Amino acid sequence: MALTLLVNTILLAIPLGGSVGTLVGIDAHLAATGQKPLFSSDGTSDGSGGSSGGSTGGGSGGSGSTTNNGLTNTQYCETSFGISPPSQGEQYTLNPNQWGVTDSTSGALCMNVTTFNNETYPTKTTAPDWSVTWQFDPGPETQPVHAFPNIQIEDVLPVALDKMEEIDFNLHWTYSVGNTVAESTDFTTLDSESLQCNVAVDMFFDSDKATAQGSTTAQFEVMVWFARFGASSDPIGYADGVVTNHTINGTIFGLYTGTNSNNQTVLTWIASEKTEQFQGDIYPLITDLYTLSGTTYPSKTDYMGIFQFGTEAFSADTNVTFGVSELSVDIKKS
Ligand SMILES: *[C@@H]1O[C@H](CO)[C@@H](O)[C@H](O)[C@H]1NC(C)=O
Ligand SMILES: *[C@@H]1O[C@H](CO)[C@@H](O)[C@H](O)[C@H]1NC(C)=O
Ligand SMILES: *[C@@H]1O[C@H](CO)[C@@H](O)[C@H](O)[C@H]1NC(C)=O
Ligand SMILES: *[C@@H]1O[C@H](CO)[C@@H](O)[C@H](O)[C@H]1NC(C)=O
Ligand SMILES: *[C@@H]1O[C@H](CO)[C@@H](O)[C@H](O)[C@H]1NC(C)=O
Ligand SMILES: *[C@@H]1O[C@H](CO)[C@@H](O)[C@H](O)[C@H]1NC(C)=O
Repeated sequence: MALTLLVNTILLAIPLGGSVGTLVGIDAHLAATGQKPLFSSDGTSDGSGGSSGGSTGGGSGGSGSTTNNGLTNTQYCETSFGISPPSQGEQYTLNPNQWGVTDSTSGALCMNVTTFNNETYPTKTTAPDWSVTWQFDPGPETQPVHAFPNIQIEDVLPVALDKMEEIDFNLHWTYSVGNTVAESTDFTTLDSESLQCNVAVDMFFDSDKATAQGSTTAQFEVMVWFARFGASSDPIGYADGVVTNHTINGTIFGLYTGTNSNNQTVLTWIASEKTEQFQGDIYPLITDLYTLSGTTYPSKTDYMGIFQFGTEAFSADTNVTFGVSELSVDIKKS
């Protein structure tokens, strides 16, 4: 499973910075003329602001931007688009990344990104909030994945695996039926909508620094799945069973191994139960790999070229919304 076939080839990094002044201007105008602000006072969009399409500058993607309380929400329904919100801390790039969508695909996906106009997030590594609303009918067995909407870290990579000391990962995601982000996930309802997807970190390693930055060329794809919904999302090597386990801050991860159609070695750690909130250092899930034998595993001198987190969207009967209300990735280097 190559989760991110398009991301590195079609990525266009367009900062949102240029739009903020315009949007603040629009909001001030609405307030001054007694109209409803684009965001309600609790910071959520009331949807009444209408679209200020093209506001991301240069007609370069994104629509329906609304700003209030120092926050800007922009919606992206493009199949592939790099969104790099300016930040005083860690630089992230988001992408709807609908790499499996073709002319015959039935369904749609849009990504919303909420950025801080002051570019100063709660911590140096806090990512902007984002969500994805999507629905796809099941695809052909040969190509069941429609998209891997994701957020990717930019500043730190590539880095040799043994030059890292910790990967502190802080996460709260939710899935819900419908078009709004839920406070918490109602797993029973999702099962009744035949949701097929996963929630995962996707990393790529190679002995060559540059090759490690290509999602189809890197020798190793290493994933950490926090949840899987439905049987379509069985990981590569599922039938062979768990190779080893590792528990991090109470969450048990089991490792599955196999090879994909690009001849990449795919190593998938899967949480034994759906894990909606996680806080811990996931670096041991990499260092454990050096100690295994029986197949090809990464070595500590290999480089990590890509680190992404997102949801691999297969299919759902109705619209579902994946929300990421808390995310930070802090790669501590030695
Ligand atoms: C930046 O903006 C956010 C959202 O409006 C606000 O909560 C935060 O206090 C601001 N930070 C600084 C340093 O101004
Ligand atoms: C379902 O989600 C898509 C993509 O976000 C959106 O375009 C569409 O309007 C939604 N459908 C309904 C019925 O709300
Ligand atoms: C995404 O943004 C659009 C446009 O502003 C808005 O209508 C929709 O409610 C937002 N969806 C979520 C889940 O926040
Ligand atoms: C991994 O943990 C599971 C329980 O979550 C257990 O059933 C299995 O035997 C363990 N496998 C190995 C190889 O330790
Ligand atoms: C697949 O990769 C392995 C190394 O991991 C290599 O030995 C083998 O020749 C490759 N096979 C093909 C068909 O490229
Ligand atoms: C473990 O998770 C809890 C929240 O569930 C968090 O408060 C704590 O800091 C985490 N511990 C580590 C070592 O990250």
